[in-house]
Amino acid sequence: MKRLYIGTNLKMYKNIRETCDYLAQLEALTRDLDRDEVCLFAIPSYTALHAASGVVSRGAIMLGAQNMHWEEKGQFTGEISPPMLQEIGIEIAEIGHSERRQLFGESAETVNKKVHAALRHGFTALICVGETAREKELGVADERLRIQVKIALHQVEEANLDRIWVAYEPVWAIGVQGIPAEPEYANEKHQVIRTVLKELFPQKGREVPILYGGSVHLANALSFISQPEVDGLFIGRFAWNAESFNELIRAVLLAWRTKTAIGKE
Ligand code: 13P
Repeated sequence: MKRLYIGTNLKMYKNIRETCDYLAQLEALTRDLDRDEVCLFAIPSYTALHAASGVVSRGAIMLGAQNMHWEEKGQFTGEISPPMLQEIGIEIAEIGHSERRQLFGESAETVNKKVHAALRHGFTALICVGETAREKELGVADERLRIQVKIALHQVEEANLDRIWVAYEPVWAIGVQGIPAEPEYANEKHQVIRTVLKELFPQKGREVPILYGGSVHLANALSFISQPEVDGLFIGRFAWNAESFNELIRAVLLAWRTKTAIGKE
């Protein structure tokens, strides 16, 4: 059965106590949901990760790190290694978020190194891709996505593909200044990503979940998830209140069931 994926990137907002309270509340509110049907995940700040892993039950909400270095150890001041994240039970490595690419000089090549490190150490790699406003204006969004996906997955083996997720997050759609993509536009871009995945991985390329992110909220979430190519949502601001997030998850799950039931007809 195909699963629905919904998660949140907590960025640099919640401290340790706020993160733990939030996750405990989210887990309690979503306890009845079947995790074979919906996979929930949250990606807190580094300082909160250890405490968070003590609060969340395994299997209820997968925890991820917002970044990760590719080496196991070394002279890399300010970085966090894969074994450090393994030590505290983290399951997802978020790689190449647009804020890291735009503000911190993350390159396609380092994204690729991090993807390999994530796979080597047993993490799921959540690879974020997306075009800038200028690239969209110049008509090269598809090219940008193809380049980002191909480099991120360079020399990745098909056998590891079940630990790859992709988030399509157009840079212009993210954050306080963001304008959400039109759902049909997002669907088109998901199709572009799917095509590259199938070219690279003929057997399993169609199974990689592709999530949409960028100014998702309750009012537009259903139109995103109803798109045929959208397998999940990756949410910032709207998800940071556990009650609102729970409400969104439930609404999206109903729309998802309708979509997958129609798909089976
Ligand atoms: P917003 O939902 O706040 O636009 O952020 C999305 C995002 O960056 C998820 O990684």
